[in-house]
Amino acid sequence: MKIQSRAVHSGDRKKAGPQIPVSTPIYTASSYFYDTTEQLDQVFAFETPGYAYARYDNPTNSALEEVLTSLEGGRGTLATASGMAAIEIALRVATMTRPRAIVAADALYGATIKLLNQILEPLGFRIHYADFCDLAEVERAIARTQPGCLLMETISNPLLRVAPMDRIAELARAAGVALVVDNTFATPLLVRPLELGAHLSVNSLTKYLAGHGDVLGGSVTSDAEHYDALRATGRVTGPLLGPFEAYLAMRGVKTFPLRMERQCANAVEVAEWLGGHPKVERVHFPGGAAHPDAEAVRRLLPAGQFGAMVSFEIRAASRAEVFGFMDRLKMIVRATSLGDVHSMLLYPWMSSHRDVGPEQKARVGIRENLVRLSVGIEAVEDILADLDQAL
Ligand SMILES: Cc1ncc(COP(=O)(O)O)c(C=O)c1O
Repeated sequence: MKIQSRAVHSGDRKKAGPQIPVSTPIYTASSYFYDTTEQLDQVFAFETPGYAYARYDNPTNSALEEVLTSLEGGRGTLATASGMAAIEIALRVATMTRPRAIVAADALYGATIKLLNQILEPLGFRIHYADFCDLAEVERAIARTQPGCLLMETISNPLLRVAPMDRIAELARAAGVALVVDNTFATPLLVRPLELGAHLSVNSLTKYLAGHGDVLGGSVTSDAEHYDALRATGRVTGPLLGPFEAYLAMRGVKTFPLRMERQCANAVEVAEWLGGHPKVERVHFPGGAAHPDAEAVRRLLPAGQFGAMVSFEIRAASRAEVFGFMDRLKMIVRATSLGDVHSMLLYPWMSSHRDVGPEQKARVGIRENLVRLSVGIEAVEDILADLDQAL
């Protein structure tokens, strides 16, 4: 071949040989070819396993999807470009053969509320909200609105309510309705929604699973009923995570249980300490003795592990005083997101719930003096010292 052709073809597409790399490499190839066209045809026909085109899947993503399925249970996982992409495809798949109506928990991440109200409703979906911590209200909403799907978070953002997912799954299955759960705050270390009867479990990989503040990603883990539709939709609409991000997420997942255990233990201490601080009016933490969902917490979360998010209200603080508190933090990172190795603090009124209407904020209980702390893996004394000097 001439240099122009050799520059394009040499070096690439070598057979892997007998060796096996200990960690999965980043496969950036956009397409794959085989010794014979017949083999490629069989891959396209799903008659033999293999890769054909990167919008369908690639070996780096498959490795990540395999480990996520092993953590969450279920038939299989689709890794997506963000947590929001995961929620969107999960809702579409859940309602593909069911009514285009969703009953959603009124306590949800702000962008999820926007997805429902500003994207799906204009597309013809009927959207209804209910207090998922009140089982009778969920039952009434199902009977009244005949939805195709229910949507909830395992531990809600930002007030950390824990709805009785196991009972809600029973209601959903009895009514032939799909249950989609956003498991981001709990992670599969604490709760595996599919084992409790949910149909699709979503994670923002950006948070605890990747855990280092350097990658955006999401995942949908599906039961057997929805898996083929999930993959088929993904192949056509193309929301897949890129292989670089899949590699980073996979690297994060390896230490995720270790990090999460430490973060949960730190959070117990932080919540207890905040509860005794004179400048703190109220602490929201599923491990707190006065938590309104104590029964569901006992049933659904492992003993002593309540997640690593702690929200609290600063006594009589105005917005300016909350900003002052945040500006004084020295180690805790004042930024949006959560679940990273470093502790992070965010003001839901300004960021995650900025565009949620005042009535919905009031109904859920998001007040102007509320901050949300994602407890990291640092030494807990340093987290407490930083909070103390800033308060
Ligand atoms: C509970 C929850 N679900 C989903 C998301 C969306 O994830 P991503 O930012 O990866 O799209 C977030 C983001 O903060 C979240 O808090």
